[in-house]
Amino acid sequence: MKPSPRSFHVKSFGCQMNVYDGDRMAELLEAEGLEAVADADAADLVVLNTCHIREKAAEKVYSDIGRLVKREHGPAPMIAVAGCVAQAEGAEIPRRAKAVDIVVGPQAYHNLPALVREAAAGRKALDTDMPALSKFAALPARRRQGPGAFLTVQEGCDKFCTYCVVPYTRGAEISRPFAAIVDEARALVDAGAKEITLLGQNVNAWGEDGKGLDDLIRALDRIEGLARIRYTTSHPNDMTEGLIRAHAEVGKLMPYLHLPVQSGSDRVLKAMNRSHSAESYLRILERVRAARPDIAISGDFIVGFPGETEAEFEETLGIVEAVNYAQAFSFKYSPRPGTPAAEMAGQVPPAVMDERLQRLQALLNAQQFAFNQASVGRRCEVLIERTGRKPGQMLGKSPWLQSVHLETDAAIGDLVEVELLAAGPNSLAGAALVRKVA
Ligand code: 5AD
Ligand code: SF4
Repeated sequence: MKPSPRSFHVKSFGCQMNVYDGDRMAELLEAEGLEAVADADAADLVVLNTCHIREKAAEKVYSDIGRLVKREHGPAPMIAVAGCVAQAEGAEIPRRAKAVDIVVGPQAYHNLPALVREAAAGRKALDTDMPALSKFAALPARRRQGPGAFLTVQEGCDKFCTYCVVPYTRGAEISRPFAAIVDEARALVDAGAKEITLLGQNVNAWGEDGKGLDDLIRALDRIEGLARIRYTTSHPNDMTEGLIRAHAEVGKLMPYLHLPVQSGSDRVLKAMNRSHSAESYLRILERVRAARPDIAISGDFIVGFPGETEAEFEETLGIVEAVNYAQAFSFKYSPRPGTPAAEMAGQVPPAVMDERLQRLQALLNAQQFAFNQASVGRRCEVLIERTGRKPGQMLGKSPWLQSVHLETDAAIGDLVEVELLAAGPNSLAGAALVRKVA
């Protein structure tokens, strides 16, 4: 039996929503009197906050568990597996890895303290229930905060893209109440946040009583002390006129849009159940760019979806050429157990996927570099997020979500007026003009 833990470490994998969930679990455990430690090897309780979106995620969790059990100093910690692998595998996890004491799904982690008590009493503790919304109401108030904060406003997905495990691990689409979100945003700003990124698997599907994400953004715009608003990830079908207009009208809304298209082939999009075409996606971006001409566009792509031919892959290269992305994420298709695409004929050989991914990434990297180069000479505000490697150097983000390094005596959380001087593939160098505190 493992004693009641006094210290903990949360290790989050995967998306930003997991980062948010990991922070909230840490706050919960701290509210219970446990101490956060930076080194997993020194913690009495280790929470592995897992991701199930692609490749062998479960295998990675089992090898992490193996490492924790065999750690050099002291007894094995209490181990909790949280996140999407916990939801997908459930009771299978402690069956396969006896060292796991707690399994907790993404909709149930508000029960973590009770699960820890159960585990300390020598019982395996499992909770993968999906009660809509109760989690948020049961979480403690937000406390410490860096300049950039995540705020989950929407969870789950009803779109059922045929490759994707999210509708099964995160459940149906739910929107948190407007008032609760605005309260949490205020608490984050009081705790030091200058920028809030609204999160959701389909964040632009957020809604309540006829209000949409744009209304929420406009409400946050009125919070004093908040300087920047972002949101991610969006679905093309939920890109409303109101949200597009917000990009023209809301001063704090940053000129950046992450709008995944996944493929440039209409046949593949249909097989993916994406319910938009390459053309309709391009038309949405035209409207967004008309509203906010300098907007940076980002996206997600999957290569090697079952049945994807060379010609269909080239249509993906074509849509990338047409859009000209500032940033993007691209992945090899990974069959997810239980999803329709995993059963489809025409699974693409790994070597073909590798080759397509390389070609796509070469193009996307070149576009990102070109976008950075085109930014040289621009003046913009940079939100300082951390110290750089060299003395006196600080790192921050431009409005277009580029990393910028500069020499300045400004502190973390300051907004600095900067001229962008030089571009690399992944970051820019800038010079501070005038110091401005938000
Ligand atoms: N295989 C590869 N990539 C996937 N994604 C989602 N499911 C899969 C899968 N089975 C990608 C999509 C999505 C991003 C978060 O992960 O591009 O937008
Ligand atoms: Fe997955 Fe599609 Fe839902 Fe995104 S929209 S979470 S890719 S099912």
